[in-house]
Amino acid sequence: MESFVVKGEVSLTGAVKISGSKNAAVAVLPAVVLTKENVHLENLPDITDVRTMIEILENLGVSIRRRGRNALDLTSGNLSKIAPPYELVKKMRASYYFMGSLLARFGRAEVPIPGGCDLGPRPIDQHLKGFTALGADINIEHGMITLTADRLVGAHIYLDVVSIGATINLMLAASAAEGRTVLENVAKEPEIVDLANFLNAMGAKIRGAGTDVIRIDGVKSFTGVTHAIIPDRIEAGTFMMAAAATAGSVTVEDVIPKHLEAITAKLRETGATVRVEPERITVAVPQPLVASDLKTFPYPGFPTDLQPPGMVLLTAARGLSVITENVFDGRFNQVEELKRMGARIKVEGRTALIEGGNRLSGAPVTAHDLRSGASLIIAALMAEGDSTISAVEHIDRGYENLEQKFIGLGASIKRISDQASEKISKSPL
Ligand code: EPU
Repeated sequence: MESFVVKGEVSLTGAVKISGSKNAAVAVLPAVVLTKENVHLENLPDITDVRTMIEILENLGVSIRRRGRNALDLTSGNLSKIAPPYELVKKMRASYYFMGSLLARFGRAEVPIPGGCDLGPRPIDQHLKGFTALGADINIEHGMITLTADRLVGAHIYLDVVSIGATINLMLAASAAEGRTVLENVAKEPEIVDLANFLNAMGAKIRGAGTDVIRIDGVKSFTGVTHAIIPDRIEAGTFMMAAAATAGSVTVEDVIPKHLEAITAKLRETGATVRVEPERITVAVPQPLVASDLKTFPYPGFPTDLQPPGMVLLTAARGLSVITENVFDGRFNQVEELKRMGARIKVEGRTALIEGGNRLSGAPVTAHDLRSGASLIIAALMAEGDSTISAVEHIDRGYENLEQKFIGLGASIKRISDQASEKISKSPL
């Protein structure tokens, strides 16, 4: 286990290159098993979740060759296993995409109930409802979900809740089903569109990704493909929030500004200036930030994954801000940690009231999940004095080289082992 020791009262300045999207990469990688031919993937982020996904693929029998830090060649020609192991599946939520992809390839999948960040209850009823509608039998026993289908047949499926995971899983399975599938009330996130583009380049027939109705005509076989993962809009948004929260001036590079419109709008509301160019966005703060309300919604709304960094930003904005978390029941893991740093936050159900404008003070805090962990780095950069953030393995799951990127913007962050953390957190950097 490792911790970050972060020096406070830093204004971030400079430019940072944004890596490939975690949530697109972890959807595209399981989809590789649909084809027996070679798949070349580029712009994969080098993060723990992607490494875990690669381990699962290797365990199933996919042959993988690294092509530098962010590219891979993968061939699933000799794939025979249909059961990813529990030790790997439990490490990440997206491992459940093997339900859809193995069902599409073999008509059978055995996938342990997945892990992932603790954000409150995370049911998978919509995935299972959709697989059943496509003709799969489902058995859940001893923590294992077993799906079998002699043949998958296209169906009309209406999702009761807008779910990224269910949309992806059903796209994967329906791509190989006989006939047409219509998925209604689906998620519209850019990561869904990236997966649809990937599958279509392999020969799938998917129309409407990015809208709330997706139509899929199933195909019998899939070809090899070369594909580059889209930029990570959540990583970009994290740095944009960090720039404003630390009253700095930061340019995020290699981004798709269209994917960041909700963040751009919210930052402008708080008084930050946001300059948008074709593949870069610059955030600066010419005046004190002002309070603003923030509500999370599925895309194109403000993303729940940026709610924790958004909360930290609002602690720097003078006045009372209200955050409403509409996507997950328990996504305020950062609050008690921020209070340790002097933030004035009150939570009632899915609503948080933030009285911003006071200076935070450095403290030992814990990352409880990926995005709340990232938000603590921003808080630590703003705070007076040093902070130690423990359990940074949560942060490593989803951000490539995060501390190096912050250091490149003027931060002082040291990664230390937990044995050393007790001593170092008491002494200045
Ligand atoms: N839901 C159901 N039933 C289902 C599926 C979902 O009720 O069958 C509910 C969930 O409980 C939640 C809402 O629907 O309240 C949305 O969940 P969704 O399925 O969209 O979330 P997910 O697919 O489990 C993905 C991302 C998360 C991100 C959420 C919301 C991946 C691998 N994960 O999770 O990313 O927060 O969508 O945008 O793509 C992260 O990157 O830190 C992260 C947690």
